[in-house]
Amino acid sequence: PVQALSPLLKLHQEAADFYHRVLITTKAGERGMQYARQRDLSDEILDHFKIGYAPKQDNLLLTYLRGKDYSDDDLAKSGLFVQSQDGRLFDRFRDRLMFPLGDESGRVIGFSGRRISEDKTEAKYMNSPETEIFTKSKALFHFAEAKKAARTEGHLVLYEGYMDVISAYKAGVHSGIASMGTSLTDQQVYMLKRISRNIIINYDGDDPGVHAEERATNLFEKAGGFNLGIVVLPEKLDPDEYIKKYGAEKYLDEIRGALSPTDFLLQRLAQKYNLKNDRDRITYLNEAVKEIARLINPVEQDLYLDKLAKQQGVSKDSLKVNLMRERRRQN
Ligand code: UTP
Ligand code: MN
Ligand code: MN
Ligand code: MN
Ligand code: MN
Repeated sequence: PVQALSPLLKLHQEAADFYHRVLITTKAGERGMQYARQRDLSDEILDHFKIGYAPKQDNLLLTYLRGKDYSDDDLAKSGLFVQSQDGRLFDRFRDRLMFPLGDESGRVIGFSGRRISEDKTEAKYMNSPETEIFTKSKALFHFAEAKKAARTEGHLVLYEGYMDVISAYKAGVHSGIASMGTSLTDQQVYMLKRISRNIIINYDGDDPGVHAEERATNLFEKAGGFNLGIVVLPEKLDPDEYIKKYGAEKYLDEIRGALSPTDFLLQRLAQKYNLKNDRDRITYLNEAVKEIARLINPVEQDLYLDKLAKQQGVSKDSLKVNLMRERRRQN
């Protein structure tokens, strides 16, 4: 019931304000601020995304929220604390840059904290556990803001990480959303569908990222009704790194040059073969035609057959014969 949730929502709002204030105005937050600057986060950006810092010192959030008269029951249910054997509460997030995670209307429902220390034995990002108000499989970073921006930009851009959304925002893409990692869920796809049918997927350019783009493309196509674009960044860069290296203008070119799902698929397929070898090339052509045969729209089929023929220096007529065979086989 919605009513019962409201103390947890209020608690999260206060926690977000607290972390943000610690970062911006306190001595305890200087360490966080140093890291924020190192990542090129300006005051304006820290404000827009309500980024904060969970201090190193024990239990500052706990002390703060107890002063606001929250019961230990509410505190325990919030997920912002860990509980010892004997029931005592401790701040869960320590010495981390804090990204608040919002729901569809922008209310804070959880957090993700970026490790600041060099200690690689600790997880890079620590997330809120599942609570009454936070479900990781439904969480989307920057969802409420992107929803508004999608109306003017005409599309949504999907990223892996918070820092990617933020750098893209600085580069002018305000409709960025992060799926918080590479494992997009059906629920998230459903949520995105209500905001925009035009989705550009821009995961990291490394192998896991590109692999996840393939998986995400399949999820969107299974759901149906989407118009997809897929960006594969060079040199295994993630969007944040790419923008820092090449600048906003080049990045916006990459977005404008997003591949259609078929181009993306054919490109991925081509990488599996040594196209200088005739036998490999023939296999590739056969597999590629199979993919093209799956397209429903004959105009699209024609377009990709044409492209493939030109790229591989074979006649479109022969590809077409194969395509017809494939279509008969697939029906
Ligand atoms: P990445 O490993 O690509 O991190 O994970 P990143 O976004 O580039 O982070 P920086 O630039 O090193 O700070 C992509 C996303 O996967 C989730 C986070 O949402 C992260 O932004 N993730 C990653 C976790 O939840 N936990 C982790 O330990 C790592
Ligand atoms: Mn905005
Ligand atoms: Mn990654
Ligand atoms: Mn990354
Ligand atoms: Mn990164």
